[in-house]
Amino acid sequence: MPPEATSKIKPAINPKKIVIFTGAGISAESGLQTFRDSDGLWNNYQLEEVATPEAWAIHPEVVLAFYNDRRKQAFEAQPNAAHTALAKLEEQYEVVVITQNIDDLHERAGSTQIIHVHGQLKYARSSKYDSPLYLYDEGKAIQFGDICENGSQLRPHIVWFGEHIHHYELAKKHLETAGKVLVVGTSLSVYPAAHILEDASADAEKIIITQQLDNKPANYELRQGNAATLVPKLVDTWLQNEKAAV
Ligand code: APR
Repeated sequence: MPPEATSKIKPAINPKKIVIFTGAGISAESGLQTFRDSDGLWNNYQLEEVATPEAWAIHPEVVLAFYNDRRKQAFEAQPNAAHTALAKLEEQYEVVVITQNIDDLHERAGSTQIIHVHGQLKYARSSKYDSPLYLYDEGKAIQFGDICENGSQLRPHIVWFGEHIHHYELAKKHLETAGKVLVVGTSLSVYPAAHILEDASADAEKIIITQQLDNKPANYELRQGNAATLVPKLVDTWLQNEKAAV
């Protein structure tokens, strides 16, 4: 076979498969702060002070306190109409949610296939070993002095700046076969997470729902507004179209 023929052959898209890619904006109407909006976390904290391995090495208690606050707020928050609508999509479609969010609002709304690429607040892990994970649900704080079975301090199971993203190849593979791609509530300003969308098929329907976006990827339709309003509307349209097609 000529060399060019051996180049990557794009898999066929599945019209019944939807990949959702979410960011902090989908949880904003649940009362959780985003990162880069005017009232966002990175306007109240120096990310270098709380979300890097260097910060952990210098003042682990400060990092623990930052994520203990996030964990408590996430536990006290409720899924909103956008999370619930995405879970409802599973009535008619195979739905994979790829989220940059560390809260568990997609799980609590009922979505069943969720890939957290930036980690999860409700788990801790050893500061020395990647596994096992230790459950810290119900807003429980990780204390300085909580140690793993090998005696090392526990840290948040969160991907800090400069660390490797989780499940990157798996996420990209799901994009390749999605018949529809819906991006919700992200500024697409963090890499490599934002690169995941590059694997979406040219033939897939691609929509972004967000309040504002500086760098819209090509071939995506942008719908500006609130996720809790626009996502349910789009989900209803997709579900009705699918029912009509049956
Ligand atoms: N409805 C829809 N979109 C909203 C809403 C809302 N109610 N509120 C805010 N947004 C949009 C903003 O317009 C913005 O485009 O959500 C996006 C939030 O962007 P960021 O604050 O940058 O959050 P995110 O894209 O998730 O950040 C990515 O950066 O700091 C890291 O690890 C952190 O996972 C995070 C990553």
